Amino acid sequence: MAHELVIVLDFGGQYNQLIARRVRECNVYCEVKPFTTPLSELKAMNPIGIIFTGGPNSVYLEESPHVDPEIFTWGVPILGICYGCQLMAHTLGGKVTEAQDDSAREYGKTETFFDTVCPLFKGLPESGISWMSHGDYMAKVPDGFELVAHSNACPNVGIADVKRGFYGVQFHPEVNHTEHGTDMIRNFLYEVCKAKGDWTMGDFCKSTVQTLKEQVGPDGRVLLALSGGVDSSVLAALLAEAIGERLTCVFVDHGLMRKDEGDEVEAAFSKWNVNFVRVNAEERFLSKLAGVEDPQEKRHIIGSEFGYVFRDEAERFGITKQDFLAQGTIYPDVIESGKGDADVIKSHHNKLLPAEVVARFKDVLEPLDLLFKDEVRQLGRELGLPEYLVMRQPFPGPGLAIRIIGAVTKEKADTLREADFIYRDEIAKAGWDKQISQYFAVLTNCRSVGVMGDGRTYDYTLALRGVTTNDFMTADWARIPYEVLDKISVRIVNEVPGINRIVYDITSKPPATVEWE
Ligand code: XMP
Repeated sequence: MAHELVIVLDFGGQYNQLIARRVRECNVYCEVKPFTTPLSELKAMNPIGIIFTGGPNSVYLEESPHVDPEIFTWGVPILGICYGCQLMAHTLGGKVTEAQDDSAREYGKTETFFDTVCPLFKGLPESGISWMSHGDYMAKVPDGFELVAHSNACPNVGIADVKRGFYGVQFHPEVNHTEHGTDMIRNFLYEVCKAKGDWTMGDFCKSTVQTLKEQVGPDGRVLLALSGGVDSSVLAALLAEAIGERLTCVFVDHGLMRKDEGDEVEAAFSKWNVNFVRVNAEERFLSKLAGVEDPQEKRHIIGSEFGYVFRDEAERFGITKQDFLAQGTIYPDVIESGKGDADVIKSHHNKLLPAEVVARFKDVLEPLDLLFKDEVRQLGRELGLPEYLVMRQPFPGPGLAIRIIGAVTKEKADTLREADFIYRDEIAKAGWDKQISQYFAVLTNCRSVGVMGDGRTYDYTLALRGVTTNDFMTADWARIPYEVLDKISVRIVNEVPGINRIVYDITSKPPATVEWE
């Protein structure tokens, strides 16, 4: 069955996939297309609506992305967000200029007032906080449009031409910081585009299994890079459904897993009806990492070494050049590793495969690479994975290497493993494990003086990190009660030699990131 479709037309903004994800959340199928997609191609897709994304450019500059003006006579409803809104205004005869005074430039959380008679804001409160990020200003709105939202600094934060189904907002309804943002997107879909809402994660599951079947073909085999975490486990289940025993799951224990984790992953997957292989490669990884202090360098070494292990295992199991490598890469891995013009924040391990390893396979399959973590979890439930697996807190591919600041040694890894175990144990005992999205210990490279018994110590400072988040793109630090923190601190300092001081990390993301490296 063909689903109703909304197209997100991408003008290079940061949040494009987030818009797509919000649309999916509202049960409408959605695809992101570059702004250069010819109008004829967009028309052939027969969408019920189009959303223009934000973007870093100024619409009045010739070299900035534009659209075929005919898109506005086609008769399909359009929602423009930020740059998308300015583009609509500019193309339809309005005037967009650089904001002359600072008050018309808006960044961050801004109180905004809505005309709730407008279909976009139907049923919403008359004011709320919205997330702005624009330096340009709509000096004149096009004919036929009315002003439907304003802030204290700016009279035209939202514009609408209800007759033609054109809406534009200067803020970002797709980000969590905008109150009722998803409701605005839902209103666009249901009130303006008249969506029926016929798409579910179950559909995604079915269509992905079918696509994988076709991609791999009747005889192809797949080597899956399995970490035992949510993403690769969900992919294992998808592939098992698509190709059964032609799937080989390779779990690499690089010696930088959490305490007992390697054995736990092995125990869990031995019960599955899949080919499971564990590779113990501690020596291989630690020797490559010896003396390396730079976070990106560590990530590069680990990413490539994973690749070489997969290549070796492919040889061992007779997986040929006609076969495939699969990875549970998800969208945040792609975006943080730097995509298009976006900055490289940190390279996620699965984006660092050496070219020769990629060339060793027919293709690399990454069918989850447009999904966010909570969508992957939903997909896992769809596939019948147990809740403890679906809700496992994420653990990064490079493992403890990016939680040991400075050079990695086996001794430091063992110290961190013990401390991290106590942290997790106490959090679970306090009943906080379900409330914190991710929590772990970091072995800082900082040593300080302490006193234990009657003696002086000069040992490492351990940092505890705990965050709450839905999508891991932004996060807040978890408000763990002092008593719980106190217990953890006392236990770790008493039980783990080499650590004499504990600190708790109270920074959100941004400006920090979740992991320290
Ligand atoms: P950051 O530190 O980027 O973390 O704010 C966001 C989420 O991504 C996880 N992370 C990784 N996951 N490979 C992964 O599979 C990686 O290289 C990697 N680096 C960070 C991190 O644990 C958090 O959940």
